[in-house]
Amino acid sequence: MALTAGLLGLSACQTGTAPQNETEMATAETPEIPYDQHSYAKPEEAFVKHLSWQARVDFDEKIIEATAAWDIEPAENAEQIIFDTYDLNIQTVKVDGEEVEFSLGEQDQHMGQALSIPIKPSSKVVHIKYYTSPGARALQWLSAEQTAGKEMPFLFTQSQAILARSWIPTQDSPGIRFTYDATVQVPENMLALMSASNPQERNQKGEYQFKMPQPIPAYLLALAVGDVYFEPISERTGVYAEASLLDTAAYEFADLEKMVVAAEELYGPYAWGRYDLIVLPPSFPFGGMENPRLTFATPTILAGDRSLVSLVAHELAHSWSGNLVTNATWNDFWLNEGFTVYFEHRIMEAVYGREYSEMLASLTRSGLKETAAEMLEEVPNDTKLKLDLADRNPDDGVTSIPYDKGYFFLRLIEETVGRERFDTFLRNYFDANKFKVMTTEEFVDYLKANLLSDEQMKTIKVDQWIYETGIPDNLPKVNSDRFAQVEAALALFLEKGLTPDAKVTEAWTTHEWLHFINSMPEGVTQEQLAKLDKLYKFSQTGNSEIAAAWFQPTIEAGYEAVYPRVEEFLVNVGRRKFLTPTYEALLEAGQEEMALNIYQKARPNYHAVSRETMDRLLNYEG
Ligand code: BES
Ligand code: ZN
Repeated sequence: MALTAGLLGLSACQTGTAPQNETEMATAETPEIPYDQHSYAKPEEAFVKHLSWQARVDFDEKIIEATAAWDIEPAENAEQIIFDTYDLNIQTVKVDGEEVEFSLGEQDQHMGQALSIPIKPSSKVVHIKYYTSPGARALQWLSAEQTAGKEMPFLFTQSQAILARSWIPTQDSPGIRFTYDATVQVPENMLALMSASNPQERNQKGEYQFKMPQPIPAYLLALAVGDVYFEPISERTGVYAEASLLDTAAYEFADLEKMVVAAEELYGPYAWGRYDLIVLPPSFPFGGMENPRLTFATPTILAGDRSLVSLVAHELAHSWSGNLVTNATWNDFWLNEGFTVYFEHRIMEAVYGREYSEMLASLTRSGLKETAAEMLEEVPNDTKLKLDLADRNPDDGVTSIPYDKGYFFLRLIEETVGRERFDTFLRNYFDANKFKVMTTEEFVDYLKANLLSDEQMKTIKVDQWIYETGIPDNLPKVNSDRFAQVEAALALFLEKGLTPDAKVTEAWTTHEWLHFINSMPEGVTQEQLAKLDKLYKFSQTGNSEIAAAWFQPTIEAGYEAVYPRVEEFLVNVGRRKFLTPTYEALLEAGQEEMALNIYQKARPNYHAVSRETMDRLLNYEG
């Protein structure tokens, strides 16, 4: 075949990994393409290079009606090109202008359906005319009442990991990159934004043009449509939000430019042009999503005091780790997230100082130890960095393992070789692999070739960290004096009933409070909690992280005064990271009925991603 790895943008090899299903066409001449068990695409036969997307967003029917015109690159003997779809209604398909007969494969609950289109080796363009289903998994359609302004509806997408296929027929594999342009028609007076060059002003007709000249994988396709406005922060950064949130958001993210500068100083030039943020309605199922040029963010980070902006550092860091150097498959997810958490901490250190970033690292470490212990009981294999998500929803891999075990593994390497060498290594790594994919195996080879001696590989226990369960005993330590002070204050309270002195707590940031609350032992009493609540007003806090942390000991202790706040929070916020532990706490405290009652009310506000997780957690059958 004429296909080269360079053409595909696929340089990674999964050496030693046998094709895991017989449909993979591995022949002697084929380059070793990372096999992705979560896509039907067969890029070795034909792959996509560019998308021209013409779409109309219909809020009445809750559908997107569109034509996806794909420039394709068939191999010498290609007979078909295969796309991933999920609940798409395919109307017609044309190849180079001629209508052809396509076929849709069987529906798989995670993967959806393969769309096979007959082509010739000389075929150039495939047009797919289709419309989405109202229940499309990536899309959340919000009524005007569910927005801050309450005047216009809102639509946003969440494509990662394999949901892009529910709104665009695509080769939905992180190893297949393409450029795109789009024309999107939305109702008059609404603004449309994508993971691409974006408008800053609305036009009357509601028609918008987009261009993404850098190749991206399908999971980074994104669209948001709403009653949003733009506010610049620096020349190349800014924020979009509904009018009532715009000033708050611009205040919260005032350090955005500093973060981009810090990131570039660490690991090289920002490759994507502008870096903007959009603050979405509270049902957004994640904290943030690194859609290129336009990070999607939850409004729950608008704390008013800039204390939760490490999330922005995280999504920004993905502009290198993830968006430039991309995990080859979802089994290699830690290459996206572990590197990003490491990079995030480094940006936070550069902008706010080591003392500050060590508090964050300390919170990360406690969280990791706790989850790893729980997961070792229930899903031990998911505590490996290299995951095995065969026949599973890749969403199952989204735990603190790829994030925080990944982070500490990289931190251990840094501590072993020294920061200077590690930084040089990382800078070269991002540069050498930009716009490519990386497998775990290839990363280990790269590490051996460019950084670590055999001796160091052994002392670090590289293989154990990556391929074995649990947390190795050389987990790096974190020293936070500020947290030591918090622990002392908590001990005084628990042992002697003395509440921390206002002179001390005045200087505490969100992170000290989080550590204070998270460190409460089991068995803390309702009286103790009431005393703290009276003084520090935790149940009324506007800080989402503190609120969610506070729900843990209070629900466990049956502290009823917190229940109204729990309900209000769960009904308004759809961020899964907060929902899961809160519903879990209710279940563990024997409050199943309350959990289900709240869920009945809240469920219509949640995105499918959160709904699916909560349905499972609560055994909800509708
Ligand atoms: N890319 C992730 C979100 C994601 C992961 C969506 C997997 C779907 C599948 C994003 O960068 C992320 O990690 N968000 C975190 C932010 C946090 C770690 C700072 C979140 O949403 O909580
Ligand atoms: Zn991330």
